[in-house]
Amino acid sequence: MMKLLALVLLGTVSTCSASNLPIVDLGYELHQAISFDSTQGLYNFSNIRYAAPPVGDLRFRAPVAPARNRTKVQNGTVGRVCPQAVPIWVQDIEPEFLLSVLEGTQFNQSANISSYPYMPTKPDPRTTEDCLFLDVIVPENVFNRSRSGRISLRKSLAPVLVWIDGGGFVQGDKTQLDPSGLVNRSTVAGDGVVFVSINYRLGAFGWLGGHSLMANGTANAGLHDQRFALDWISKNIHLFGGDPNQVTIMGLSAGGGSVMHQITAYGGQNGSVPFQQAIVQSPGWVATPDDQQPEQALRQFLKLLNVSTIAEARNLPSKKLIAANAYQIATKSAWGEFVYTPVVDGTFVPKLPGQLLLEGGYDHNLTVMVGHTSNEGVEFTSPDSRNSITYLSTLLNKSYPFIKSNVTRYITDVLYPPVYDGSYGYNSPFTRVAVVNAESSIQCNLEYLNWAYGNQTFAYEFSVPPGIHGLDAIYVFYNKGQASVDGNLSGLEVQNETVALVVQDYITSFAQFGAPKSSLGPAFKRYGSQNILLNIGNQTIQPMRDTTNASRCHFWQTAPYY
Ligand SMILES: *[C@@H]1O[C@H](CO)[C@@H](O)[C@H](O)[C@H]1NC(C)=O
Ligand SMILES: *[C@@H]1O[C@H](CO)[C@@H](O)[C@H](O)[C@H]1NC(C)=O
Ligand SMILES: *[C@@H]1O[C@H](CO)[C@@H](O)[C@H](O)[C@H]1NC(C)=O
Ligand SMILES: *[C@@H]1O[C@H](CO)[C@@H](O)[C@H](O)[C@H]1NC(C)=O
Ligand SMILES: *[C@@H]1O[C@H](CO)[C@@H](O)[C@H](O)[C@H]1NC(C)=O
Ligand SMILES: *[C@@H]1O[C@H](CO)[C@@H](O)[C@H](O)[C@H]1NC(C)=O
Ligand SMILES: *[C@@H]1O[C@H](CO)[C@@H](O)[C@H](O)[C@H]1NC(C)=O
Ligand SMILES: *[C@@H]1O[C@H](CO)[C@@H](O)[C@H](O)[C@H]1NC(C)=O
Ligand SMILES: *[C@@H]1O[C@H](CO)[C@@H](O)[C@H](O)[C@H]1NC(C)=O
Ligand SMILES: *[C@@H]1O[C@H](CO)[C@@H](O)[C@H](O)[C@H]1NC(C)=O
Ligand SMILES: *[C@@H]1O[C@H](CO)[C@@H](O)[C@H](O)[C@H]1NC(C)=O
Ligand SMILES: *[C@@H]1O[C@H](CO)[C@@H](O)[C@H](O)[C@H]1NC(C)=O
Repeated sequence: MMKLLALVLLGTVSTCSASNLPIVDLGYELHQAISFDSTQGLYNFSNIRYAAPPVGDLRFRAPVAPARNRTKVQNGTVGRVCPQAVPIWVQDIEPEFLLSVLEGTQFNQSANISSYPYMPTKPDPRTTEDCLFLDVIVPENVFNRSRSGRISLRKSLAPVLVWIDGGGFVQGDKTQLDPSGLVNRSTVAGDGVVFVSINYRLGAFGWLGGHSLMANGTANAGLHDQRFALDWISKNIHLFGGDPNQVTIMGLSAGGGSVMHQITAYGGQNGSVPFQQAIVQSPGWVATPDDQQPEQALRQFLKLLNVSTIAEARNLPSKKLIAANAYQIATKSAWGEFVYTPVVDGTFVPKLPGQLLLEGGYDHNLTVMVGHTSNEGVEFTSPDSRNSITYLSTLLNKSYPFIKSNVTRYITDVLYPPVYDGSYGYNSPFTRVAVVNAESSIQCNLEYLNWAYGNQTFAYEFSVPPGIHGLDAIYVFYNKGQASVDGNLSGLEVQNETVALVVQDYITSFAQFGAPKSSLGPAFKRYGSQNILLNIGNQTIQPMRDTTNASRCHFWQTAPYY
């Protein structure tokens, strides 16, 4: 999710001449594959529109169905990336700081975010507000079967794996990670999966909330985008050879947080969700249960636009909104935060997902796999935590404006006391805050899922050094012969190819058969009453007792801070 994890993975695509590539009739439009990768045997249907352009009066509202346009065959040659933003702490401070933490060297930069000048990054040329598009990557066999004249073949549809990308709800797009290696690997043990990757609105475009917005708009528009895309998949994926009754949704970081929100959508009160399985990897967001923070973010955004109402903001040109969004998120994000995040809105998100999982407000009929890394918190922890005794209580009071002082004290003195002998899971002021961040915003989410699904989940811990947040993505999206490129940090490429292939086997077999397995790796048992997870390391992969602190997670699950 961070810049330092921005992977450059180039594939070899032999683009056939336009007339050779298949066309799928979606009813509202005709869509032609953009390429066929003959090395991997994959069709690429890219930039399929799934919603009307969310512009003008449709801004800051739930998406609506696209208009009919059958005058021309769509081929997806125009790229689509939702407007992006990067906080200054992510862009300018965190890479160097993380390097110093991991390598034990001196950190010489300022940690003061407002001392850095705002320098807008050159936007991706594909950037557009009209970004509600998805990609479908299909193995040749699977696609051909859907075209077969024989009904019996046409009926044998393949499982579907849907990727919801991460990036703090402000960054990322459907093409950021190349799924070719993963999809190809799915054809080793089975027929293969149909892979779908979706765009959803980011930053102010997707995650405005607060009462002023809700009076004339939809909070969490980004969650509605995702759900709209999932409903599209239910309705249309058979046209590509995919089975709408065997859909697994998967996401990491903000993508994992999104998957949790989809599992708990409408508190489980709106019928079953349009998927049957979920893979939740390091789901992260800062819980925002109250109205104050989203309302403040909204007002700040409107002020930057020099308007006072949502209706006026809908009249502004796209360019202005894109610039204000980028500026606000860059300069106003505190360390570990992104200004925007899913909010409790009373409908799609009636309560925080952890609370809903505790109270039964979710779709119970799902098969779930969860994963986290061994060192989740470091990227989200400010250098300021190192030498201030009051840093943690200040952070808690800022993140949770309504927290009671006895609760803050309970967190700082009882749950996470300043005791650095390792008995509490940390050995310095910095790692103490990192553990609080990891547990409260990421790792405990997985416990809530384990418990909600009666420990019948499949759980892994990814502990390949340095075990930082997002590292497992490089393994999930491994492409043979293509190391991830990173200028700063050594050790972020795939270190052991077998590990990558085993991870891909577990993911794709879970999607295909409902249980992870690999001919190269050990049996993957359910979490169970013994709380066993599979520890995926650089040299060994083996079951291990989950060391997540359950009592601290029980505390966080009730959201005792507002
Ligand atoms: C894609 O569609 C556009 C617009 O219809 C057309 O101009 C272009 O030639 C097409 N490209 C290919 C590769 O078919
Ligand atoms: C599919 O094509 C689009 C547009 O050219 C490209 O951005 C994307 O990376 C391709 N996906 C794969 C898996 O090759
Ligand atoms: C229909 O699709 C074509 C090809 O992408 C595009 O050029 C045209 O503007 C679209 N028409 C409308 C009404 O959106
Ligand atoms: C940081 O400062 C120390 C001591 O002044 C110096 O030895 C080191 O090279 C500096 N590191 C970087 C990355 O500039
Ligand atoms: C951070 O930098 C800003 C701008 O240079 C300055 O006004 C502010 O006092 C600094 N804050 C601290 C805590 O040093
Ligand atoms: C799939 O269909 C295409 C077009 O009909 C054909 O050229 C190709 O050989 C088929 N591939 C397989 C694996 O059947
Ligand atoms: C809501 O916003 C629309 C513009 O999108 C505007 O026409 C309408 O008057 C607004 N309604 C209220 C109640 O403010
Ligand atoms: C639960 O899920 C299974 C498999 O997806 C499905 O066959 C069954 O109908 C579902 N049961 C309910 C009560 O929704
Ligand atoms: C904090 O005080 C309130 C009453 O004011 C009490 O209900 C709550 O249990 C206390 N919380 C903790 C963690 O001590
Ligand atoms: C799941 O595991 C936890 C921790 O061991 C235990 O407290 C709980 O009772 C288990 N739930 C079920 C349904 O087995
Ligand atoms: C992983 O294992 C390989 C082979 O033993 C070793 O060369 C590499 O340094 C290890 N990487 C890490 C990050 O431990
Ligand atoms: C790579 O990982 C596999 C699977 O855990 C293990 O068997 C193998 O020994 C590892 N290779 C090295 C060089 O560590």
